[in-house]
Amino acid sequence: MSILQKHAVLEKNVTLLAIFAFLVVTIGGLVQIVPLFYLENTIEDVEGMRPYTPLELAGREVYLREGCYVCHSQMIRPMRDEVERYGHYSLAVESKYDHPFQWGSKRTGPDLARVGGRYSDEWHVDHLRNPQSVVPESVMPKYGFLEAKLIEGTYIGDLMSTNRIVGVPYSDEMIEAAQADFLAQADPDSDYDGLLERYGENVNVRNFDGAPGVSEADALIAYLQMLGTLVDFSTFTPDASR
Ligand code: HEC
Repeated sequence: MSILQKHAVLEKNVTLLAIFAFLVVTIGGLVQIVPLFYLENTIEDVEGMRPYTPLELAGREVYLREGCYVCHSQMIRPMRDEVERYGHYSLAVESKYDHPFQWGSKRTGPDLARVGGRYSDEWHVDHLRNPQSVVPESVMPKYGFLEAKLIEGTYIGDLMSTNRIVGVPYSDEMIEAAQADFLAQADPDSDYDGLLERYGENVNVRNFDGAPGVSEADALIAYLQMLGTLVDFSTFTPDASR
């Protein structure tokens, strides 16, 4: 019996075919799945990554609530056109503290993974108020109302505790100081030493929207201005094992 004839036996007997198909799928599945149980770390740690500050986290909530992700991804693929346009491709570790993550392929607007520091705060204020005033052909909606909505960070500590449940390493101290840190980051005249002590030097402390009080626009711009700025790519070299 040739191999083709042998295979014909399988093809003509549905029970036998089911048994063999099951065997093949099982072996294939085991080969793929078992090694994953022996991985120690799926994400390579990179210097500079830190959890979001309370103000940035609040800004991220505004970003999610307003559905900015419907038009913007935060994931630069390792392809030449993307890297030339947006900068170094995104590392897994850069989304480590994102719940939920902001990857995606829907880009009505540009990818925002490295938008931090690309524009001034004033540019962001103008752009959120009226995107067409700075980019005439823009189809982005207006978000000027965010400036009028003042927030005090009353519940930001609770949100940080929730993030801690899913693995973000917020310390008790960070959660205790959440509201103070929230207010300090938007006020350059405040005593923000504690904030920098807890989150590191790489924290922007500014009055982001240029108006008194902490508004949702302050929080959102604080978030946008830190996106992609934590890892220093002038010193970063990928793990040699990759
Ligand atoms: C309907 C789709 C749409 C939505 C929703 C949207 N945007 Fe945009 N966004 C765009 C488009 C298109 C551009 C490119 C033109 C421009 O700069 O306005 C853009 C540009 C931007 C830029 C400049 C990016 C760059 O690299 O030049 C930022 C920052 C931005 N959007 C932030 C936001 C934020 C924050 C939200 C939510 C509050 C948001 N967008 C919601 C479509 C959208």
